Amino acid sequence: MTAQRPLTVSSAPAGLAGRIRVPGDKSISHRALMFAALAEGRTHISGLLEGEDVLRTAEAMRALGAKVVQKDGRWIVDGCGVNGLQEPADVLDMGNSGTAARLLSGVLATHPFMSIMTGDASLRGRPMGRVSVPLSKTGARFVTRAGHKLPMAVEGTGKGKPLHYCLPVASAQVKSAILLAGLNCEGETVVEEPAPTRDHTENMLRHFGTEVKVEELPEAGRRITLKGPARLVAQDVLVPGDPSSAAFPVVAALLVPGSEIVVEAVGQNPLRTGLFKTLKEMGASLELRDERTEGGEVIGDLHVRAGRLKAVDVPAVRVPSMIDEYPVLAVACAFAEGTSRLRGLAELRVKESDRLASTVALLEANGAKVHVEGDDLIIEGQTSLPGGGKVQTHMDHRLAMSATVLGLAAERPVHIDDTAFIETSFPGFVSLMNTLGAGLKP
Ligand code: S3P
Repeated sequence: MTAQRPLTVSSAPAGLAGRIRVPGDKSISHRALMFAALAEGRTHISGLLEGEDVLRTAEAMRALGAKVVQKDGRWIVDGCGVNGLQEPADVLDMGNSGTAARLLSGVLATHPFMSIMTGDASLRGRPMGRVSVPLSKTGARFVTRAGHKLPMAVEGTGKGKPLHYCLPVASAQVKSAILLAGLNCEGETVVEEPAPTRDHTENMLRHFGTEVKVEELPEAGRRITLKGPARLVAQDVLVPGDPSSAAFPVVAALLVPGSEIVVEAVGQNPLRTGLFKTLKEMGASLELRDERTEGGEVIGDLHVRAGRLKAVDVPAVRVPSMIDEYPVLAVACAFAEGTSRLRGLAELRVKESDRLASTVALLEANGAKVHVEGDDLIIEGQTSLPGGGKVQTHMDHRLAMSATVLGLAAERPVHIDDTAFIETSFPGFVSLMNTLGAGLKP
C-alpha cells in the first residue's frame, strides 16, 4: 500500500446531486478471476473491480499459471482447468484481502503443490483457522503462525477427500473455500450454513457449467452440495455495481440536507441488500427503479433523496446480508430520531479492523452516543452531530469511507488519519463523491 493519505472532511457545501455508477462488485470480481483461472478456455470479464484487493487475486492467479491480461477495459483470462494450476515461484501476497486469502486457501488445498500466502499487517492479524482447520481434512497440510495467522504454508493434496462441513459461523468466505476445494475432490462436498450467506460462488459455479444443489434447512440454513472432480468451462462474466460500495453515496445523500442522487446499475442479489431494506425501515426515501437482468445478475438504479431518518432495530438474522455495511449504517443511526439497536455483530470483530470497536470509536470521537451490549451496538440518534473528531481507520477501507460520510453531514470537520485503503475496494471514491458536490479536498 502507498503512503498514508490523511483527509479532513467538512460538511458538504450544498446538497449532493447527480447520477453515478460505483465500481464492480468485489465479491463477484474475486470469484470471476478465480473461476476463470480454474476453467478450461478463455473467459472475458467486463466491469471487474480494479481495486487493490482484486488486483492481488489477479496477480495470484497469474503466479499459479493462468494468463490474465487487461485489454480495452475488459479482463481476459486463459484458464488452466481444475487441477491444472502450477506451483507458484514466490510467496502469494494477498494484501488487505480476507476474501482473496480465504477463497484461495480452498483452491490451494486440493492442488498438488506447495505454496505460501501472506498479507499486510491487517490481514496477518485475521483468523485463518476458520478455513485451514476444515480444509486440512481434505488431506492438505496447513502450517500457520500462532493463532492460525498468516503467513501460512499450504501443502496441497491434489485430488482430496471431500468434506461434509457445518459452518460454525455464517461466512460466505468459508463456504466458498470448502466448495472451491471440493472441485478437485473425489465425491460429494457438502456445506451447511446456519443462515444463508451471499451465494455468488454457487451462482458462478453454475455459470461455469458445474452442477450445485442447494437445499433449504428447517432452521433457516442451507445445505450446498457439489460433486467432484468438477470441470469448469470458460464463460464471459459481467460484474454488476457493488451494493456494498453504493452504500456510501446512498447514506451520504440521505444525510446531507437537500441531496438527490441516482446510483445506477447496482447489484440486487437479495443476500446483499440488507442495508437498503434497513434504510427503508428507517423511513429513507430510497427507491429501486428500472430493475433488469444483465449478465445473469439482477441490477437496478437507486434513487435517493435526503430526509429525516428514524431509529431501527436490526435483527441478527439480517447480518449476513449486510455484514460489510454496519459502519455506515451506524453513521446513519447516529443522525436518526430515537435509539437504534444493531444485533448480533460478533463477526465484525474479525474484519479488516475490529469493526465493532472502530465504529464505536468513530462515532464517539464525533459526539455520538453509542455503546456495546454483548454483541449488539446501541446508538442514540441526534438531529445533528458535532463532528470535529480525529478518526483512526486501522487499515480499514470501509471505516475510512464511513468517516467521510459522517464528516459530510456533521457540524465540524472530521479528521481521518488515512484514506489510502479505500483503494482496496472503491478506487476513485473521493473524486466520485466530488462529482456529486461533496467538496472533498484530498
Ligand atoms: C465476502 C464475504 C464476507 C464479507 C467480505 C466478502 C465474500 O465475509 O465481509 O467482504 O466475498 O465472500 P464473511 O463471509 O467471512 O462474513
